[in-house]
Amino acid sequence: MILITGANGHFGKATIESLLKKGIDKNKLVGMVRSTEKGKDLVEQGVAIRIGDYNNYASLQEAFKGAHKLLLVSGTELEHRSKQQVDAVKAAKEAGVIHILYTSAKRRPDISNSPIQLVLNSHIDTENAIKESGMAYTLLRSNLYMDLLPWFLGEKVLENGIFFPAGDGKVGFTLRTDMAEAAANILMGNGHENKTYNISNPQSISFGEIAKLLSEISGKTINYHSSDSKTYIDTLTGAGVPQAYALMLAGFAEAAKQGEFVSGETDLMKLLGREPVAVKQFLANVYSKFTQS
Ligand SMILES: NC(=O)c1ccc[n+]([C@@H]2O[C@H](COP(=O)([O-])OP(=O)(O)OC[C@H]3O[C@@H](n4cnc5c(N)ncnc54)[C@H](OP(=O)(O)O)[C@@H]3O)[C@@H](O)[C@H]2O)c1
Repeated sequence: MILITGANGHFGKATIESLLKKGIDKNKLVGMVRSTEKGKDLVEQGVAIRIGDYNNYASLQEAFKGAHKLLLVSGTELEHRSKQQVDAVKAAKEAGVIHILYTSAKRRPDISNSPIQLVLNSHIDTENAIKESGMAYTLLRSNLYMDLLPWFLGEKVLENGIFFPAGDGKVGFTLRTDMAEAAANILMGNGHENKTYNISNPQSISFGEIAKLLSEISGKTINYHSSDSKTYIDTLTGAGVPQAYALMLAGFAEAAKQGEFVSGETDLMKLLGREPVAVKQFLANVYSKFTQS
């Protein structure tokens, strides 16, 4: 049996959808969610659910029973994530899971100066726990979701242009459903044990290049302005954006500027058996509807 955690979240849900599309036997698939209410859609699709919370060890022991393969989707509570996920790995081992997949993050070998250290530390702790557990593993070191681009660009990008302090840094933005399909292929395939994959679009793109693409799509000139981090944070908080939110965006921008998200070697095409969706296509899908008059 294959068990997917975070099954009501974007990634878990997309992985389950991909597995169903590829014809997986529904009786061999279970989604873990935090409440029955959150699993309603899955049950409607004929997928069984189990209730589990990374903060409740006993619930994980119960939820993981009988699972041979487990896709551990990383959690969202950054300050607690290391403990939560190390516990989940321990519970998986105890429950007899044979092969664990984990949605980790792409990173440079030395993260000591990384602006997103807090995000990365919990991934490293989890990867270490997985390797020490003795279970077979597949680590999905994923690049930034392309789906986050509108968040980085801001709601008024077509009117105001791009204001984001990422300099000329390039990012291998990758569509979440492409990543989920790669996970589904691994879950249904063979030969992925004890592998670490880089899940990234092969093409990296800068925000200046994104501005040019948006100009083409919208027929208007979209400029890109990269300030220093402090000016960016002050501008956002001055416009009413909560400080934690502004700091998070600035951290991602700084990491992009430092080249943290450049694609490098990637396993995504091999895992998908096709080209992943490119940023140009994504931007056209999202923004062309706003530009038709
Ligand atoms: N590569 C990237 O660019 C990127 C960007 C953002 C996030 N991420 C990471 O990738 C993960 C998956 O992305 P996503 O888009 O699917 O995020 P998402 O839609 O927010 O889904 C997160 C899932 O994790 C579950 N979860 C959170 N805390 C939990 C806990 N204590 N116990 C059990 N389940 C818990 C959530 O359940 P509830 O609905 O009950 O909260 C939800 O199902 C994220 O959680 C995050 O770690 C990656």
